[in-house]
Amino acid sequence: MERIKLHDKVFEVSIPSTRIQEAVKKVADQINNDYTDADCPVFLSVLNGSFMFTSDLIKNVNVQCEISFTKLASYEGTATSGKVNELIGITKSLKGRVVIIVEDIIDTGTTLEKLIETVSAQQPKEVKIATFLFKPEAYKKSLKIDYIGMEIPNDFIVGYGLDYEELGRNYKDIYTLVKE
Ligand code: IMP
Ligand code: MG
Repeated sequence: MERIKLHDKVFEVSIPSTRIQEAVKKVADQINNDYTDADCPVFLSVLNGSFMFTSDLIKNVNVQCEISFTKLASYEGTATSGKVNELIGITKSLKGRVVIIVEDIIDTGTTLEKLIETVSAQQPKEVKIATFLFKPEAYKKSLKIDYIGMEIPNDFIVGYGLDYEELGRNYKDIYTLVKE
Protein backbone atom coordinates (compact mmCIF):
# COMPACT_ATOMS: atom_id res chain seq x y z
CA MET A 1 0.00 0.00 0.00
CA GLU A 2 1.25 3.42 -0.89
CA ARG A 3 2.02 5.53 2.15
CA ILE A 4 2.65 9.26 2.65
CA LYS A 5 3.94 11.23 5.63
CA LEU A 6 2.41 14.62 6.49
CA HIS A 7 3.94 16.47 9.44
CA ASP A 8 4.19 13.78 12.16
CA LYS A 9 1.62 11.32 10.77
CA VAL A 10 1.60 8.46 8.26
CA PHE A 11 -1.33 7.82 5.91
CA GLU A 12 -2.13 4.88 3.62
CA VAL A 13 -4.16 4.86 0.39
CA SER A 14 -7.74 3.82 1.11
CA ILE A 15 -9.82 5.13 -1.83
CA PRO A 16 -8.11 5.21 -5.25
CA SER A 17 -8.97 7.97 -7.71
CA THR A 18 -10.84 5.59 -10.05
CA ARG A 19 -13.37 4.86 -7.28
CA ILE A 20 -13.54 8.55 -6.40
CA GLN A 21 -14.40 9.48 -9.98
CA GLU A 22 -17.13 6.80 -10.17
CA ALA A 23 -18.73 8.18 -7.00
CA VAL A 24 -18.54 11.77 -8.32
CA LYS A 25 -20.23 10.68 -11.54
CA LYS A 26 -23.02 8.97 -9.55
CA VAL A 27 -23.78 12.20 -7.63
CA ALA A 28 -23.71 14.27 -10.84
CA ASP A 29 -26.13 11.84 -12.52
CA GLN A 30 -28.57 12.15 -9.61
CA ILE A 31 -28.41 15.96 -9.82
CA ASN A 32 -28.85 15.81 -13.62
CA ASN A 33 -31.99 13.70 -13.07
CA ASP A 34 -33.42 16.00 -10.41
CA TYR A 35 -32.97 19.38 -12.13
CA THR A 36 -33.47 21.09 -15.47
CA ASP A 37 -31.96 24.23 -17.02
CA ALA A 38 -34.95 26.20 -15.73
CA ASP A 39 -33.98 25.44 -12.09
CA CYS A 40 -30.50 26.86 -12.67
CA PRO A 41 -29.15 25.66 -9.30
CA VAL A 42 -26.46 27.60 -7.46
CA PHE A 43 -23.70 25.27 -6.26
CA LEU A 44 -22.42 26.71 -3.00
CA SER A 45 -18.99 25.19 -2.48
CA VAL A 46 -17.55 25.16 1.02
CA LEU A 47 -13.84 25.98 0.92
CA ASN A 48 -11.19 24.85 1.35
CA GLY A 49 -11.80 21.12 1.36
CA SER A 50 -14.46 20.85 -1.34
CA PHE A 51 -12.58 22.55 -4.18
CA MET A 52 -11.63 19.25 -5.87
CA PHE A 53 -15.04 17.62 -5.50
CA THR A 54 -16.77 20.81 -6.68
CA SER A 55 -14.59 20.98 -9.76
CA ASP A 56 -15.09 17.31 -10.71
CA LEU A 57 -18.79 17.42 -9.86
CA ILE A 58 -19.76 20.41 -11.96
CA LYS A 59 -17.76 19.11 -14.93
CA ASN A 60 -20.24 16.22 -14.90
CA VAL A 61 -23.37 18.36 -14.37
CA ASN A 62 -25.20 19.08 -17.61
CA VAL A 63 -27.94 21.48 -16.47
CA GLN A 64 -27.37 25.22 -16.48
CA CYS A 65 -25.99 26.25 -13.13
CA GLU A 66 -24.02 28.88 -11.23
CA ILE A 67 -21.28 28.53 -8.66
CA SER A 68 -20.39 30.46 -5.54
CA PHE A 69 -17.98 29.88 -2.66
CA THR A 70 -17.93 30.34 1.08
CA LYS A 71 -15.14 29.50 3.47
CA LEU A 72 -15.67 27.92 6.86
CA ALA A 73 -13.32 26.20 9.27
CA SER A 74 -14.01 23.95 12.25
CA TYR A 75 -11.14 21.48 12.37
CA GLU A 76 -8.01 21.77 14.49
CA GLY A 77 -5.47 19.01 13.70
CA THR A 78 -7.33 15.71 13.40
CA ALA A 79 -10.43 16.57 15.47
CA THR A 80 -13.33 18.97 15.18
CA SER A 81 -13.10 22.02 17.46
CA GLY A 82 -16.89 22.22 17.80
CA LYS A 83 -17.01 25.88 16.78
CA VAL A 84 -17.33 27.07 13.21
CA ASN A 85 -15.55 30.16 11.93
CA GLU A 86 -16.82 31.95 8.85
CA LEU A 87 -13.73 33.10 6.95
CA ILE A 88 -15.43 34.15 3.69
CA GLY A 89 -19.16 34.84 3.78
CA ILE A 90 -21.73 34.20 1.06
CA THR A 91 -21.37 36.97 -1.50
CA LYS A 92 -24.14 35.92 -3.89
CA SER A 93 -27.86 36.56 -3.36
CA LEU A 94 -29.61 33.22 -2.86
CA LYS A 95 -33.15 34.59 -2.52
CA GLY A 96 -35.60 32.43 -4.49
CA ARG A 97 -32.82 30.19 -5.83
CA VAL A 98 -32.27 26.43 -5.76
CA VAL A 99 -29.11 26.05 -3.68
CA ILE A 100 -27.00 22.90 -3.61
CA ILE A 101 -24.41 23.04 -0.85
CA VAL A 102 -21.26 21.18 -1.88
CA GLU A 103 -19.21 19.72 0.97
CA ASP A 104 -16.09 17.57 0.90
CA ILE A 105 -17.04 15.64 4.02
CA ILE A 106 -19.73 15.67 6.68
CA ASP A 107 -18.41 14.49 10.01
CA THR A 108 -20.35 15.67 13.09
CA GLY A 109 -22.54 17.95 10.97
CA THR A 110 -21.71 21.07 12.98
CA THR A 111 -20.36 22.99 9.97
CA LEU A 112 -23.36 22.03 7.88
CA GLU A 113 -25.88 23.11 10.51
CA LYS A 114 -24.27 26.53 10.80
CA LEU A 115 -24.20 26.92 7.03
CA ILE A 116 -27.84 25.91 6.57
CA GLU A 117 -28.80 28.62 9.07
CA THR A 118 -26.91 31.28 7.09
CA VAL A 119 -28.25 30.08 3.73
CA SER A 120 -31.86 29.79 4.94
CA ALA A 121 -31.79 33.37 6.22
CA GLN A 122 -31.53 34.44 2.57
CA GLN A 123 -34.87 32.77 1.71
CA PRO A 124 -33.78 30.42 -1.07
CA LYS A 125 -36.45 28.44 -2.94
CA GLU A 126 -34.85 25.15 -1.89
CA VAL A 127 -31.66 23.98 -0.18
CA LYS A 128 -30.08 20.61 -0.94
CA ILE A 129 -26.89 19.12 0.43
CA ALA A 130 -24.31 17.23 -1.61
CA THR A 131 -21.30 15.80 0.18
CA PHE A 132 -18.59 13.68 -1.29
CA LEU A 133 -17.91 11.80 1.95
CA PHE A 134 -20.10 11.04 4.92
CA LYS A 135 -19.10 9.53 8.27
CA PRO A 136 -22.41 8.05 9.57
CA GLU A 137 -20.86 7.03 12.91
CA ALA A 138 -19.72 10.59 13.64
CA TYR A 139 -22.89 12.38 12.46
CA LYS A 140 -24.73 14.03 15.37
CA LYS A 141 -27.46 15.97 13.56
CA SER A 142 -30.79 15.08 11.99
CA LEU A 143 -30.59 17.14 8.78
CA LYS A 144 -31.19 14.94 5.76
CA ILE A 145 -28.26 14.71 3.35
CA ASP A 146 -29.57 14.59 -0.20
CA TYR A 147 -26.55 13.44 -2.20
CA ILE A 148 -23.69 11.32 -0.82
CA GLY A 149 -20.68 10.16 -2.83
CA MET A 150 -19.45 7.56 -0.33
CA GLU A 151 -19.99 6.58 3.28
CA ILE A 152 -16.75 5.98 5.17
CA PRO A 153 -15.76 4.75 8.66
CA ASN A 154 -15.01 7.23 11.42
CA ASP A 155 -11.29 7.50 10.58
CA PHE A 156 -9.26 10.61 9.78
CA ILE A 157 -8.49 10.92 6.08
CA VAL A 158 -6.61 13.25 3.73
CA GLY A 159 -6.31 13.81 -0.01
CA TYR A 160 -8.78 14.87 -2.70
CA GLY A 161 -9.01 18.33 -1.12
CA LEU A 162 -8.88 17.22 2.51
CA ASP A 163 -5.96 18.17 4.72
CA TYR A 164 -4.07 17.42 7.87
CA GLU A 165 -2.81 20.80 9.12
CA GLU A 166 -3.03 22.15 5.53
CA LEU A 167 -1.01 19.34 3.95
CA GLY A 168 -2.34 16.57 1.72
CA ARG A 169 -5.02 18.44 -0.24
CA ASN A 170 -3.26 17.90 -3.57
CA TYR A 171 -3.47 14.09 -3.76
CA LYS A 172 -5.92 12.58 -6.24
CA ASP A 173 -6.45 9.50 -4.02
CA ILE A 174 -7.76 9.43 -0.45
CA TYR A 175 -5.49 8.25 2.37
CA THR A 176 -6.40 7.05 5.87
CA LEU A 177 -4.39 7.80 9.00
CA VAL A 178 -2.33 4.77 10.06
CA LYS A 179 -2.91 4.16 13.77
CA GLU A 180 0.22 3.42 15.76
P1 IMP B 1 -18.10 18.72 10.90
O1 IMP B 1 -18.46 20.12 11.19
O2 IMP B 1 -17.71 17.96 12.16
O3 IMP B 1 -19.16 17.96 10.10
O4 IMP B 1 -16.75 18.72 10.06
C1 IMP B 1 -16.73 19.08 8.75
C2 IMP B 1 -15.39 19.62 8.31
O5 IMP B 1 -14.31 19.08 9.08
C3 IMP B 1 -15.12 19.18 6.89
O6 IMP B 1 -15.63 20.08 5.94
C4 IMP B 1 -13.61 19.08 6.85
O7 IMP B 1 -13.05 20.34 6.54
C5 IMP B 1 -13.23 18.68 8.25
N1 IMP B 1 -13.06 17.21 8.38
C6 IMP B 1 -13.93 16.31 8.88
N2 IMP B 1 -13.44 15.06 8.85
C7 IMP B 1 -12.21 15.16 8.28
C8 IMP B 1 -11.18 14.20 7.94
O8 IMP B 1 -11.29 12.97 8.14
N3 IMP B 1 -10.06 14.72 7.36
C9 IMP B 1 -9.87 16.04 7.10
N4 IMP B 1 -10.80 16.97 7.41
C10 IMP B 1 -11.96 16.54 7.98
MG1 MG C 1 -15.07 21.34 4.54
